[in-house]
Amino acid sequence: MIRGLFITVEGTDGSGKTTQIVRMQEHLVSLGCEVLLTREPGGTRISENIRSIILDPVYTEMSNTAELLLYSAARAQLVEQVIRPSIAKSITVICDRYIDSFYAYQGFGRGTGYELLEKITGIAVNGTIPDITFFFDLDPEIGLKRRFAATGSDRIENEVIEFHRKVYKGYKILAGRYPERIRTIDASRPADEVWLDVRRQLDMILGFVKSV
Ligand code: TMP
Repeated sequence: MIRGLFITVEGTDGSGKTTQIVRMQEHLVSLGCEVLLTREPGGTRISENIRSIILDPVYTEMSNTAELLLYSAARAQLVEQVIRPSIAKSITVICDRYIDSFYAYQGFGRGTGYELLEKITGIAVNGTIPDITFFFDLDPEIGLKRRFAATGSDRIENEVIEFHRKVYKGYKILAGRYPERIRTIDASRPADEVWLDVRRQLDMILGFVKSV
């Protein structure tokens, strides 16, 4: 039995990931794939509970260490309970955020050292690395304006714009560091145009088209 693909979707807040994820799922299903959609932090009963603590705007006193351990606990549970068993059963998993969010937000945003994050990530994911990652590249100022207008803001989104700029810069660095795995998508364009790009890349990964 061939294992399922593991796809992750990344970007600063309000970069339009959700719309594209739904289209990705529909497209993959139309091609005959069994698809499971999940998210980070969250995706299991335990991880969703951790999510509500992490993102609750009332917890302004949360320390950086507590924050990174909470994200990691949520991730460990999701990997063990959902991601690994699903890909083993040939299910394609699409995860809204994963380890690159951790490096971008806790690493570049909060300033926690790479070695520590790598060590904790190693424990949390135990070798479960995405086959492909879509990075939706959008100026964080534009994304946050979109997000605030649509849904209001959580504890992370409430951070100052300098934090979000560092996160954005971090994503760019990660995309440069892992060019094979991380595909950068210009998310400043209309959603339909973004989708054509995403679909082309997806089809290429699945081997449905021969070249870019
Ligand atoms: P979202 O589901 O609306 O994207 O919210 C999740 C927030 O958590 C988002 O601001 C990014 C942040 N985050 C981290 O800081 N570290 C992580 O490891 C993950 C997965 C998310």
